[in-house]
Amino acid sequence: MNINRNILTLDEFTIQQLRDFPAATGELSSLLRDLGLASKRVNVEVNKAGLVDILGDFGTTNVQGEEVKKLDVYANNQFMGALKHGISCAGIGSEELDDIVIFDDPVSNNSKYVCLFDPLDGSSNIDVNVSIGTIFSVYRRVSELGKPCTKEDFLQPGNKQVAAGYVIYGSSTMFVYATKRGVNGFTLDPQIGEFCLSHPDIKCPAKGKIYSVNHGNFFQYEQGVKEYITACQKKTKADGGPYTQRYIGSMVSDVHRNLIKGGIFTYPGTTDKPKGKLRLLYECNPFAFIIEKAGGKATNGKQRILDIQPTELHQRTPFFIGSSSMMDELETYLAANK
Ligand code: AHG
Ligand code: MN
Ligand code: MN
Repeated sequence: MNINRNILTLDEFTIQQLRDFPAATGELSSLLRDLGLASKRVNVEVNKAGLVDILGDFGTTNVQGEEVKKLDVYANNQFMGALKHGISCAGIGSEELDDIVIFDDPVSNNSKYVCLFDPLDGSSNIDVNVSIGTIFSVYRRVSELGKPCTKEDFLQPGNKQVAAGYVIYGSSTMFVYATKRGVNGFTLDPQIGEFCLSHPDIKCPAKGKIYSVNHGNFFQYEQGVKEYITACQKKTKADGGPYTQRYIGSMVSDVHRNLIKGGIFTYPGTTDKPKGKLRLLYECNPFAFIIEKAGGKATNGKQRILDIQPTELHQRTPFFIGSSSMMDELETYLAANK
């Protein structure tokens, strides 16, 4: 019997990647598998989020007598639990937790990696049935193997990431991750419960027509940003336009769309919040790593995101990310207004 086995699952793909590296231990594949498992569990809950009002409000108990947790807390526990049970991760940092969690058991203390994540990004969109996501970032430890991991393992610049990725809980559920070898996207096949390679070797088009920004903050942006946004609005056919403005309010969805179609996403600093809203370690760095591997660019308006030396787990940064030529144009406006 001929079985069509052209489509690789996430696990098959990560294991195949090992073939070119005889010295590889498979720890990264196993970590990605853990993240895939957690995201499938989160996906099930996200898909029934609309039923929560029937089954019981968040913070109360449902008909089965289980406590109904806010979805971002639920997602946090799933990702943390899957990584703790696995063999590849020595500790985690999460948007949902004030401090890092050091697993500190004999297996984890010998694990090579630490992981940072935003378990549910765009969580204000849950109530209104709009796509949300998970973002993750993986570093090789700098602390001594055999001992518990340390804060220094987490405060590494983004250019030291070994892998980074995101999951979109959307019209379909996708798992996208990057390593130094490139960016690959997998779509969940609900019939077999596996992520299947659907978007091999993703490249971000150098030019696009989409710009994503919260226009409600326009008058709080610095002059260069205002001028760039105004230039986007004025684009005509003659200079690559007209442009389209798209802003979902779930960065995972906004950046995913721009990655595939070409575009630019910005979350600049404002007069109220000069550092913007987005967090460097588990929101901006993973996307900066992915977009660069796909041929795009990411900056804070002054320097490459991946070169920023972090000082705090939850630090924020202005964020500009997207197609390379659109980022170049933005930079000319920012430089002219310094
Ligand atoms: P989170 O749900 O993890 O707090 O992050 C939401 C973020 C990001 O996904 C989105 O781009 C941004 O907040 C939207 O913020 P504004 O509503 O201020 O534009
Ligand atoms: Mn977020
Ligand atoms: Mn979040």
